[in-house]
Amino acid sequence: MNVEGQVALITGGASGLGAGAARILTKAGAKCALLDRNLALATELATELGGIAIECDVSDGPAVEAAVAQVVEQLGAPRIVLNAAGIDIAVRTASPKGAHPLDEFERVIKVNLTGTFNVARVAAYGMIGLDALNDDGERGVVINIASVVAQDGPVGQAAYAASKAGVQGMTLPMARDLAPYGIRVMTIAPGMFETPLAAGIPQEWIDNIIPTVPFPKRWGNPLEFGALVQQICENTMLNGEMIRIDGAIRMGT
Ligand SMILES: NC(=O)c1ccc[n+]([C@@H]2O[C@H](COP(=O)([O-])OP(=O)(O)OC[C@H]3O[C@@H](n4cnc5c(N)ncnc54)[C@H](O)[C@@H]3O)[C@@H](O)[C@H]2O)c1
Repeated sequence: MNVEGQVALITGGASGLGAGAARILTKAGAKCALLDRNLALATELATELGGIAIECDVSDGPAVEAAVAQVVEQLGAPRIVLNAAGIDIAVRTASPKGAHPLDEFERVIKVNLTGTFNVARVAAYGMIGLDALNDDGERGVVINIASVVAQDGPVGQAAYAASKAGVQGMTLPMARDLAPYGIRVMTIAPGMFETPLAAGIPQEWIDNIIPTVPFPKRWGNPLEFGALVQQICENTMLNGEMIRIDGAIRMGT
């Protein structure tokens, strides 16, 4: 799919990886709708990029349905969807201080896994009614974000890893569900990218982990992530798979 002239719906688009992708897709000629629970930040970037900002909690069914309808009304029907809204916590399953709070586990699953599925299902339904773009019958693409944590499983990451492994696990069945309508589904698993989310990680942990990245030994830049998003949009053969973008890091305990 040629990105130029398309509408891209980006959740979590106010910050970090979502914002990086919004910049890259805008440069490639897309119009971006940033859905985020942080409206002030989303509005700031949308104004800079000439897109729109909508306040929305991705885990809320009716709110996402209303937000997608608003995107269609204000910008046109999105054929590119990037699920970049997400949260992380670091809590051990149990320690002498107590058991992992169940509500915290459920909160992470609700945003990262249910929220991703929620946006994908509503946006994909909208795409089914659109005309095909090319001889392949392509109508659109849904791109989700998992994490290398889904496979590497560092300590304290049971909730986050479960949510991201869920995102990886639903990639192929969603791609198969939507294939008859020419809608692709891909997932990206980033390693260490410098964003506000990563700013919450203790400095001592960061000092230990960045030197373990084989190459390049540094943080990823959200624009490098955005470049992969653009490639996934443009390369129709990419479907039903998760791609790690991680400098070959494999996280230890
Ligand atoms: N930064 C990394 O190194 C890294 C690595 C692997 C995976 N990820 C994943 O990438 C995604 C983006 O992370 P980031 O680093 O850009 O974080 P970030 O905190 O910079 O951006 C996340 C955005 O999501 C929004 N958000 C959070 N909960 C929301 C909700 N319920 N509804 C709507 N918006 C919500 C936040 O307001 C924020 O703008 C997340 O899913 C994260 O788990 C990040």
